[in-house]
Amino acid sequence: MSRIIMGIESSCDETGVGLVRLHDDGTVELLADEVASSVEQHARFGGVVPEVASRAHLEAMVPTTERAFEKAGLALSDVDAIAVTAGPGLAGALLVGVSAAKAYATALDVPLYGVNHLAGHIAVDTLQHGPLPAPCLALLVSGGHTQLLRVDDIASGITELGSTVDDAAGEAYDKVARVLGLPYPGGPPIDKAAKNGDPAAIAFPRGMTGPRDAKNDFSFSGLKTSVARWVEGATRRGEEIPVDDVAASFQEAVADVLTMKAVRAAKEQGIGTIVISGGVAANSRLSSLAAERCAAAGIELRVPRPRLCTDNGAMIAALGAHVVAAKLPTTPLDFSANPALPVNVVSLS
Ligand code: KG4
Ligand code: ZN
Repeated sequence: MSRIIMGIESSCDETGVGLVRLHDDGTVELLADEVASSVEQHARFGGVVPEVASRAHLEAMVPTTERAFEKAGLALSDVDAIAVTAGPGLAGALLVGVSAAKAYATALDVPLYGVNHLAGHIAVDTLQHGPLPAPCLALLVSGGHTQLLRVDDIASGITELGSTVDDAAGEAYDKVARVLGLPYPGGPPIDKAAKNGDPAAIAFPRGMTGPRDAKNDFSFSGLKTSVARWVEGATRRGEEIPVDDVAASFQEAVADVLTMKAVRAAKEQGIGTIVISGGVAANSRLSSLAAERCAAAGIELRVPRPRLCTDNGAMIAALGAHVVAAKLPTTPLDFSANPALPVNVVSLS
């Protein structure tokens, strides 16, 4: 008998409600993925304003839920289990999703699972490409996180191999976009501008690639500063900023380091599959360079479609389905959101 899992996401500026069907053979099918974004309300501040995000979640939660059920042609009473992002994320934002999930779980008398947002970014790939091979290596690149993870079991076995020591990759995109006068969030406009630029125009630094640097860690703060200095210098000299070339050269530096480190880690761990996910996985150069380097190394590459890479409820529903399939304990109703939930805690018990 297949089961319907509802997923609720509210860790940052996207209110997401997803519905999936967990089949008896363990495969997970996407039924609905509705997202309401408050990104436009944050744009003029150049970053997410937590209080604004929380209020937007509050307003969007019920309508987004209703849309998801309508899309899937299901009723609330069809739900067999609920998964919700318990962390990491913004405290006030998480609280809205967690409260809604507790209310739905109580009203429907179904089990509740508080799950990890980062693991959700990996689990979402199973909706598009089927079960994950074990082990696989995940490169998680979003606005708040940049991590290399070894995934032995999506429901219970995630180990961090390395992470950024300063800015996340997406954060670097957002900050560089600001320097170039491009809108927030910076990923999409930089990606677009870079298509018309020369990636070799400016030799920006590749952070943490020295012989004594931690192999699996990342640093993007030096790169961001270097771009800002370069633009300042050109402005001082009265030169017009070649936005396309700066964007392409910056993007090349990010994609180069991310793919080089991911492929090297996979080889060292003897892992044959790399999954790239999180908002920055939507980047065209990151996926093309990753495809090139994985092919050269004989590694399978999986990148979910852009819509699944950015924050959404389907990723939480997918992870919930894997946790249910693994028969892991449910989360007691009195649990709290944990803004700093570590990545190795896939679900709370
Ligand atoms: O995963 P996500 O939606 O939210 C977080 O959990 O942070 O990631 C958002 C980040 C933003 O920094 C945004 O600029 C970046 O993903 N992003 C991109 C692209 N699309 C979104 N970065 C590079 N290229 C893109 N095409
Ligand atoms: Zn995310």
